[in-house]
Amino acid sequence: MSDILTTTLQAEAIKPKIGARVLNSKEELLSGAISADIRKLLEQRGVLVFPQISFTDAEQIAFTKTLGTFAPERAGGDEVISPITIDEKVAGATAEYLKGSLFWHIDGTRNDVPILASLLSCKKPSPKGTGNTGFSNTYAAWDDLPDDRKAKIEHLRVLHAPWATLFYHDPEPSLAKLQNYLAIGEKELPLVWAHQSGRKSLVIGNTAHSVIGKAPGESAAILVGLREWATQEQFTYSHEWTEGDMVIWDNTGTMHRAEWYDPASGRLMHRTKLEGEEPFE
Ligand code: OGA
Ligand code: MN
Repeated sequence: MSDILTTTLQAEAIKPKIGARVLNSKEELLSGAISADIRKLLEQRGVLVFPQISFTDAEQIAFTKTLGTFAPERAGGDEVISPITIDEKVAGATAEYLKGSLFWHIDGTRNDVPILASLLSCKKPSPKGTGNTGFSNTYAAWDDLPDDRKAKIEHLRVLHAPWATLFYHDPEPSLAKLQNYLAIGEKELPLVWAHQSGRKSLVIGNTAHSVIGKAPGESAAILVGLREWATQEQFTYSHEWTEGDMVIWDNTGTMHRAEWYDPASGRLMHRTKLEGEEPFE
């Protein structure tokens, strides 16, 4: 085949240990011709930025489906975009829940098979200096841990609980509110995820409530210490949004968080997700 007819992935690294910008056109992305390469790059870089790609909702859904299986927001739900905002006037009860996303987390730690990736498009940014999205490469963070620290934590298990995230933004909730979160359930997960690829990543973030079998203080010290380690400058990238940008993160090898923004700023993101392909192990 002649080179002229071959679409190749055009990308550049953002930081040595995290992030890449993908520079292909909308048409090239939607063709599906480079989807396998995008999947590979996503796993290598943790987060991919598509500067001002300005997908419509239909295009974002179509592009999502070139990468894997579209994950509806609720099991059995429709293939639609989810609006992401912490403005309760726009998103009601979901906005309340999304306040937890202002702290480092992995999406869907209550599922056996967590979602593979999320795609987030910026419809309206908040004012500069607010509302960036931060990403931490939890593969790189594991890889660079000193061997003695790896040995101490490698076989630990952690109770993950959505209810634990409530206390980050509402330290004295009503019992009724806590019970709503409790109803979502809890899950015990490995602290270190040994992926089928042979790579390992840390499974931490705001849903990580406690290390099984450790006293509360020791457990907190382990989890806080690893969050502090994994969110150091060399493992993180903070994306400052311009309207039309889209970002994909590998939810199996990164944590992310929204940085503070005024709920009334009008900041609005449109999200789609890819179904997970590998259980936590
Ligand atoms: C999410 C999320 C962060 C943001 O959509 O899962 O955490 O910056 N979003 O809005
Ligand atoms: Mn999230």
